Amino acid sequence: MKIVLIHGQNHQGSTYHIGKMIVDKIEEKKEVTEFFLPRDLNHFCLGCYKCIEGDENCPFYEEKRTIMEAIEAADLLIFTSPTYCLRASAPMKSFIDLTFTYWMVHRPRKNMFTKKALVVSTAAGQGMKSSIKDVKTALFYWGIPSIKSYGVALQAMNWDMVSAKKKERIQKDTTRIAKKLSYGQKPFVGIKTRFIFKMMAVMQSAGMGSSPVEKEYWEKNGWLDKKRPWRD
Ligand SMILES: Cc1cc2nc3c(=O)[nH]c(=O)nc-3n(C[C@H](O)[C@H](O)[C@H](O)COP(=O)(O)O)c2cc1C
Repeated sequence: MKIVLIHGQNHQGSTYHIGKMIVDKIEEKKEVTEFFLPRDLNHFCLGCYKCIEGDENCPFYEEKRTIMEAIEAADLLIFTSPTYCLRASAPMKSFIDLTFTYWMVHRPRKNMFTKKALVVSTAAGQGMKSSIKDVKTALFYWGIPSIKSYGVALQAMNWDMVSAKKKERIQKDTTRIAKKLSYGQKPFVGIKTRFIFKMMAVMQSAGMGSSPVEKEYWEKNGWLDKKRPWRD
């Protein structure tokens, strides 16, 4: 199983520890790649829209490519982000912005529709849910059919401060989550993804995409007809 971890923080704190714990407990043979943000992609989207005509036009293409190639080759993606001001971390949000051409509304990648993902977030007290939602929404629009999440309030600023009782509960939770992620079947593509994909196909067909390049892309993949990325 190829696993890619995307950390929305450079430091190895509580969120990082929980993400690693889950990976360590996955029973299958693993090949693990990790990226830290902003260390491995220290940029914000400039809003230049050059990527609409082709990903290679992004001013940050080379750095982004390293991460996205690993993501596209992975079976399981694990995103970790501490909760910052009731949301995902800014580097995580910046990463999401830099991948917007992967969304179904633009040029979704076929291989996304067979992946699983997990989003992990910790907070001191509250906000994990909205932090997780920031990432989950993006992954849904990338086309990932199975997205699990784990959010936990730690009442702590770092892993050492987390109480023994909390750590015990986290041990149990991470064992359960890792079991679910091990040896799974190919994920089922749900009705919401199918519906949105169909709407996007209708939109591209009518020439209402952001560029003729997008329509060409959909056409080349056969998605303006009956072909679907999860089927063919
Ligand atoms: C800039 C900043 C903003 C934060 N905002 C929140 C918040 O909105 N809600 C919350 O409960 N904790 C908040 N926290 C606390 C962290 O989410 C919490 O300590 C988390 O477990 C840290 O994870 P880490 O060890 O992986 O960095 C914030 C911390 C920082 C540094």
